[in-house]
Amino acid sequence: MLGIKTKSQDAEKIRKYLINENLFRYGYDLIKEKSKITIPVKKIYDKIGFQKKFPKAEIVDTRFIKTQKKQDYKDILKKKIDTSLLPSSFDIIGDIIIIDITDEIKNFQKEIGEALLLANKNIKTILKKSGMHEGEFRTQKLSYVAGINTKETVYKENNVRLKLDVEKVYFSPRLSKERKRIYQLVKQGENVLVMFSGSAPYPCVIAKNTGAKEIIGIEKNPIGHKYGIENIALNKLKNVTLYNGDVLDVIPKLKKKFNRILMPLPKGAEDFLDLALSATKKGSIVHFYDFEHETELSLGEEKVKRACKKNKIKFKILNTVKCGQYSPGKFRICIDFKVCNEHMEKENEGNMNKFLRMKKTLTDDEAKKMKKVIKEFKKD
Ligand SMILES: C[S@@+](CC[C@H](N)C(=O)[O-])C[C@H]1O[C@@H](n2cnc3c(N)ncnc32)[C@H](O)[C@@H]1O
Repeated sequence: MLGIKTKSQDAEKIRKYLINENLFRYGYDLIKEKSKITIPVKKIYDKIGFQKKFPKAEIVDTRFIKTQKKQDYKDILKKKIDTSLLPSSFDIIGDIIIIDITDEIKNFQKEIGEALLLANKNIKTILKKSGMHEGEFRTQKLSYVAGINTKETVYKENNVRLKLDVEKVYFSPRLSKERKRIYQLVKQGENVLVMFSGSAPYPCVIAKNTGAKEIIGIEKNPIGHKYGIENIALNKLKNVTLYNGDVLDVIPKLKKKFNRILMPLPKGAEDFLDLALSATKKGSIVHFYDFEHETELSLGEEKVKRACKKNKIKFKILNTVKCGQYSPGKFRICIDFKVCNEHMEKENEGNMNKFLRMKKTLTDDEAKKMKKVIKEFKKD
């Protein structure tokens, strides 16, 4: 059967081209070798045109294996459990499945875990949710159900690999599309600040897929930060700097203005809007995340409006997007807005003083250093 053999990094572009040209042969597995992928095709009607467009791709004659229809784990369980009680969706992070097991089916959890492993050959571990995302670090208690007893995995998205412990660090694979939306907005040469960076999914995805000059991430959870550092190395990224600490402490010390600021802390990011605004300049874009009920989506924009008014900042809302569901009727939203004026140092200084007051546990040494930062800020 006819196939196109290409370098792995070009495969997706060629596959999309073949689909568009109605040349892709469905129903067969792609052949994956070390750094090459072979894609099944129906025919190549314009061989010269194709080779001109993709000069490094080879047209080969090879054997492809028919794609096996994926088994549904519910089918495996249908003789034992009322399958309507089984969850239809679950999170897959790397080779771990995280499932919600209700009280009605908890006596069957071992069987459910084994069935999930049987139906999903790439999965090694099944965990169940034992609580909500909670606390300052937004982590979630998980318990072992079946397979290898681990909570650490490597997950792939948007051309990066991310290693993390799914219990000790916040992470949501459901946000991969949102991360793609953001990186597609980043322009050449930008300096980007990612507040609340976790295991660094946003910094890695932006660094890998854009021409951003510099990306700074700040994360308070030391374990999240540790994985962030590992992920920068794993993806061989050179233009990312990560800080372990509270944004309230780190941002004033950076003494920098950013082209773009991300605030991925939907529960509570509004408390940090003044701080984010203090690191903006004319033209900066802020991505402010929030949870709002679908009948009250405008409340998110109100929060932006209030903070900008207080800081005497002119702004323009560029976009408000829904990027996930939190609970019935309640959505994670992102408000993209642009700062339209230079703002006054006085305001920034006022903000910094306020942050110092907010940080009640400031040591004498820290206070001295911060005073120095403010003094230098005034000089600039
Ligand atoms: C919703 S998670 C997002 C993590 C990451 N950006 C992601 O998308 O996977 C919010 C993160 O903010 C961190 N965080 C909360 N308060 C913080 C603060 N004051 N300073 C720095 N990080 C903070 C939490 O530990 C958590 O990792």
